[in-house]
Amino acid sequence: MPVIRFPEKFLWGSTTSAHQVEGGNTLNDWWEFEEKGRVKERSGEACQHYERFEDDFKIAKSLHHNAHRFSLEWSRIEPKEGQWSESALLHYRDVFQALRENGLEPIVTLHHFTNPIWLAHRGGWENRAVVEHFSRYVRYIVDFFGKEVRYWVTLNEPLVYVYQGYIAGIWPPGVKNFEKALRVIRHQLLAHARAYRIIHTVAQYNGWPKPFVGFAKNFITFYPCSPRSLADRLSRWVRHTFFNQLYLKALTTGKLFYPGLFFEKHPELEKTLDFVGINYYTRDFVHFGGLSLPEIFGNICSLEHHASIGPRNSLGWEIYPEGLYEALREISRFRLPVLITENGICTEQDEGRWAFIRSHLFQIHRAMEEGISVWGYLHWSLLDNFEWAEGFKPRFGLMEVDYKTQRRTIRPSAKKYAEVCHTGELHVDDKTYTSRRTSSQCERM
Ligand code: GAL
Repeated sequence: MPVIRFPEKFLWGSTTSAHQVEGGNTLNDWWEFEEKGRVKERSGEACQHYERFEDDFKIAKSLHHNAHRFSLEWSRIEPKEGQWSESALLHYRDVFQALRENGLEPIVTLHHFTNPIWLAHRGGWENRAVVEHFSRYVRYIVDFFGKEVRYWVTLNEPLVYVYQGYIAGIWPPGVKNFEKALRVIRHQLLAHARAYRIIHTVAQYNGWPKPFVGFAKNFITFYPCSPRSLADRLSRWVRHTFFNQLYLKALTTGKLFYPGLFFEKHPELEKTLDFVGINYYTRDFVHFGGLSLPEIFGNICSLEHHASIGPRNSLGWEIYPEGLYEALREISRFRLPVLITENGICTEQDEGRWAFIRSHLFQIHRAMEEGISVWGYLHWSLLDNFEWAEGFKPRFGLMEVDYKTQRRTIRPSAKKYAEVCHTGELHVDDKTYTSRRTSSQCERM
C-alpha cells in the first residue's frame, strides 16, 4: 500500500465551538432562540465540556493531536455590556493551561455564531455599533490571553451566519431580509479587519511572536445542476462568486464585489488575512432560479440528485473529497497559506468516518504536492455535539458522547486518525487514489 507523508510541523487535531459543547450557555442569543422553541432541541448541558475540558483534552493528547481549535464564548466573558466576568476569564485561562499541558496548540475562534443577548437586543450584527463592541471584546481578550495564542480565527463562517440567520431565517435572529443580510456582511468584514489590526498591534507592543490571523471560510464546491444548461451555469457562477469569493476578495484587495449588483472600495479591509481557514464538508448542485434577487443565486438541488453521485452523510450532504482539492486550488489564487479549520462527517457508521478522513487527507496532500501551503488539519469534531438547528442527532465526533451519562467512547476512526497524527503518514489504497469524476453525468431525478 503506497504511503504519503505530511510535513513534520503539520498541525493535527480537531475543532469544537463553545455553544455546541460547553453546556449552560444561558446568556447568548442561541439559548434565547432555543427557549422560544424556534429549534427542535435545546442545547441544555450539551457535552458538559465546560466542566470536562481537561479530560477531553487528555483524550485528544492520547490520540496524538498537537493542536485544538475552540471558541471563546463572548456572552460568558462579557455577560453585560462593558462588564467582564472574572470567573469566565479564569475558566478560559484554565482551558489554555490544560491545552498547553496536553501539548495542544490553541487555535482560538473569537466568534462562532453566538452573541451575548445584550448585543442581540441592540440589533446584533445589523447595527453598525457591533464593530465597536466586537473590537472592544477582542482588545480585552488579546490583552488577557494574547501571550498564549499564535493562531486566531476572528469569525467562523460569516456567510453561513448571514445565510441561516438573515436569508433562510432558521437561526437567530430568524429573519428573512436580503438588505439586512448585506448590512451584516459589511459589519462582519469591518469587525474582522479591526480585530486583525488589534491582534497585531497588541502583539507587537508586547513583543510577542507574530500572530497569525484569519477567519474560517465555509467553502462549498458548486456544480451546475445540468452542465448543458447555460442558465444553471450562470446561477452556479453567481453563487460561487458570492459565497466562496466575496469575503476573501474583500479582505485581500479591499474591494467588496456583490456579483451582478455593485462594487465598493474599503481600503481598511485590504490585506487583513495571514491565512485562510477552510471549513469543507460537501459540494452542492445549483439550479437556475430566476434573474431577480435573491433568485439569481439559484436553487440548491443536491438532494434531488441521484444517490449514485456518491455516499452521503446522515444529513444528506454528499461526500465529495475532490471538492476539498478544488477548494484549495481556488483559494491558492489568493496566495495565502491555508489551515483546514473544519472537515468532518456525521454518520452512524464509523467506518465511513475513517474513509472520509482518509480520502480528504489524500486530497489535501495532492494539493500540497502542487505547492499549495497547508498548515494543518483540524477535524470536526473532537466529540459529538449540539448541531445547531439539527439538535443532537447528527454524530460528528471522533469521540462518541452518551448524553445520558456524558460518557465518552473513542471511536475506531479516531484511533486510525491518531496513527496519522502520530506518524505523519497515510497509507492509501487504490480506492483512495481513484477520484470519482461524476459531475457531468449528474442529472436530477
Ligand atoms: C460548520 C460549523 C460547525 C458545525 C459544522 C457541522 O458549518 O462551523 O459549528 O456545526 O458545520 O455542521
